[in-house]
Amino acid sequence: PAKYTSAVFTSHVPAIGAAMDLGRTEEPYWKKVFDGYQWTRKWAKENTPDVVILVYNDHATAFDASIIPTFVLGTGAQYPVADEGYGPRPVPDVQGYPEFAAHLAQSIIQDDFDLTLVNEMVVDHGLTVPLSLVYGDVEQWPVKVIPLAVNVVQYPVPSGRRCYELGKALRRAIDKWDGEELNVQIWGTGGMSHQLQGPRAGLINKEWDNAFLDHLIADPLGLTEWPHMEYVDEAGSEGIELVDWLIARGAMDDQFGGEEPTTQHRFYHVPASNTAVGHLVISNPVGLTDTAAADAETGVPAAADA
Ligand code: DHB
Ligand code: FE
Repeated sequence: PAKYTSAVFTSHVPAIGAAMDLGRTEEPYWKKVFDGYQWTRKWAKENTPDVVILVYNDHATAFDASIIPTFVLGTGAQYPVADEGYGPRPVPDVQGYPEFAAHLAQSIIQDDFDLTLVNEMVVDHGLTVPLSLVYGDVEQWPVKVIPLAVNVVQYPVPSGRRCYELGKALRRAIDKWDGEELNVQIWGTGGMSHQLQGPRAGLINKEWDNAFLDHLIADPLGLTEWPHMEYVDEAGSEGIELVDWLIARGAMDDQFGGEEPTTQHRFYHVPASNTAVGHLVISNPVGLTDTAAADAETGVPAAADA
């Protein structure tokens, strides 16, 4: 059996990876960003899952205009780190989990989602920067990773509702696994508001970003009604990356029983490069350690930075 314990949400700004790789994390500009992940680094050491299903978006690195799959599930054994123009980041290659990925593919495709299955691909900053933020500089990533890449680069892109429904199908698949015991996390990455091009380049929308976080936590079904054009209008042309987060949240929908998930950590900060950084850790009751559950009960506030 497999248990979906926690969801981790984070932006994936490439300059964050560069700051780590070039040893600049203590500079005041970057320290403010990395401080928002200290809680998470400690938590992640105590709550290492067997596998992370890492929802992200490729940036015309593994895929380009020659092939535009909406949803890619990585079924391979290993994914090399991409060269995005400055040589591959000096971080470990990513180890997959073909057996579990094949089970997810079987279940989700028979559940009427037409995934593209990819055995061989490189992974870009969209996937490696979240791993670096959570696990720091390591020789080997401490988890197996199943990449789930969503097309948000070439229109048409999927809606938040579609992503949420895919998350529910993913959860049904996780719940059906009858192999070895697995602790599973799903990460939703990309965003928050940013626009890298055109007359609105540099756009940041703190109010909208924080409303998105509020709704993601407490009103995810309401959030599925927000049309994809609202993401683009309000959060910028690259803010659409946020639909990726709805997959991880859909997998925690109320229908899977029990209590509301608990928000363990929340962080928001501007700027990092051209991007607003948002970060959340939310856990299902099964994913809470006793201390975390006690903290949640006593209402110790999660860190917030804006
Ligand atoms: C930036 C942010 C991104 O999400 C991305 O993929 C590339 C660049 C930026 O802030 O510069
Ligand atoms: Fe991006």
